[in-house]
Amino acid sequence: MAPGTLLNESNSPISTDYTSILAPTNTDTPTTAPHRPIPLPLWSPPFTSNTISPESVLLRRNARSPPLWNTYADGNWLEVSDGTRKWKIFDGSGGAGVSNIGHNDRRVYAAIDEQRETGVSYAASLSFRTAVVENFANFLIHSTNYEMAEAVFYCSGSEATDAAQKLCYQYHSRLKQDPQPGCRWFIARERSYHGATLGALELSGHRGRKEMYKPILPENTQFVSSCYPYRDMKEGETAAQYVERLADELDRKIRKIGPEKVAGFIAEPVVGAALGCVPALPGYLAAMKKVCRKHGVLIIFDEIMCGMGRTGRMHAWQEEGVVPDILLVGKGLAGGYAAISAMIVGKEIVVALGHGVFAHGHTFQNFPAACAAGLAVQMIIQDENLIQNAYEKGEKLEKKLAARLGNHPHVGNIRGPGLFKGIEFVLDKKTKETFHPEIGVAWQIYERGLTPEYGIYVYPGSGTVDGFKGDHIIIAPAYNVTDEDIDLVVDRVSNLITSYFEDLKVSSK
Ligand SMILES: Cc1ncc(COP(=O)(O)O)c(C=O)c1O
Repeated sequence: MAPGTLLNESNSPISTDYTSILAPTNTDTPTTAPHRPIPLPLWSPPFTSNTISPESVLLRRNARSPPLWNTYADGNWLEVSDGTRKWKIFDGSGGAGVSNIGHNDRRVYAAIDEQRETGVSYAASLSFRTAVVENFANFLIHSTNYEMAEAVFYCSGSEATDAAQKLCYQYHSRLKQDPQPGCRWFIARERSYHGATLGALELSGHRGRKEMYKPILPENTQFVSSCYPYRDMKEGETAAQYVERLADELDRKIRKIGPEKVAGFIAEPVVGAALGCVPALPGYLAAMKKVCRKHGVLIIFDEIMCGMGRTGRMHAWQEEGVVPDILLVGKGLAGGYAAISAMIVGKEIVVALGHGVFAHGHTFQNFPAACAAGLAVQMIIQDENLIQNAYEKGEKLEKKLAARLGNHPHVGNIRGPGLFKGIEFVLDKKTKETFHPEIGVAWQIYERGLTPEYGIYVYPGSGTVDGFKGDHIIIAPAYNVTDEDIDLVVDRVSNLITSYFEDLKVSSK
């Protein structure tokens, strides 16, 4: 045998003659088309100012009205334009609860620049690591008081939700001692939202949002009731009895599917967009975790909207110390300064992973510049004690909203911890009957809020009751709001709501 010959496992020589593989089968016929340049005129930006023309070529998201131009932002104020005039709006919701330190904070831009000083624009997470990403993961584990073990960063909440499903499945089917490959079912809650990708949408209980895509969803989720005392607690039932009823429902659902087939149970500790800031009742999370533990089902908390300080706690589950197996965070993680989410993994799963790896990866996971932005935002929140401020200002906001709007005939319920307030609207306060969905009450209130007359950004939600009927708005300002800001928000929101319903009465007469 010639020296240097490659051997296979049975010590036979491996052929290194690749000519038959590489040679074209028919040398007369070229296998690729000749490269011909396509002459395109040079492109230059068509929008030289914020005008209504030319026509936008962005795929539309909002069927009701074209979005306003956002020409400038600073602190909690947005400068907007409709193409003909400019005005200012107070950012009372940061989109869907994203902005938590306000806009234009130069300290965050400086931190992104500092990361870029390393010259690393992109670090492929399979091959390289960077200090900023390691630090941000370390910060997140610290934020759980070391109750959880490891973290990974993605770009959106939906990606994190999908990753959680795969990790649960990998845990049950490969990692744990008695693997259960048939463990493909998830249990989620009605009137919930966990994201827009097919996996995350499948987990979502908001019927209105998933209806159209049902035929292409994976069909691996079954649903139990959400914890929604305003509508679902029975007369004469105590909170403890209601929680027990919900825990019993989960228990029965797991047993019906078969505990060996259920991978995970997912819940938002405070339901965001789907219900409008409805917190779990005391004892609820613990009761659900107990049922999951009994059956060996993993528990996932989706805190993509309610987490990272929004409720006046770093993580909403810390209110009662109920640690999940998997925690999902997003939105407020970088306060809108970067597109980033994270999946934080509990000790049991990490121990089961051992020296193995989570079989899942994205090109842009653990993106250094996004982590630099997120870490800077979290340091500002820490240094300025903003979670405490969110708690205190949240208390104030709730009291003042209740005083101004509590008796309004169409305000059914005001709820939510910290700076995460939902206002649910009803046609009839006593019966809790909703407005007809075609009116689009929440959307009309939101649109009116954006006008120069009202100048307040609130976040609308519909389908509160069953995915189609029901309206609410969310008020979720940045954690650094002042007492004066709270007064302004209460004033503007109260005027907005009262004037809207006065005009609705006139127009429906
Ligand atoms: C609770 C919750 N989970 C998941 C998501 C999905 O996050 P993203 O829109 O970043 O994909 C959202 C978004 O609204 C959310 O509110």
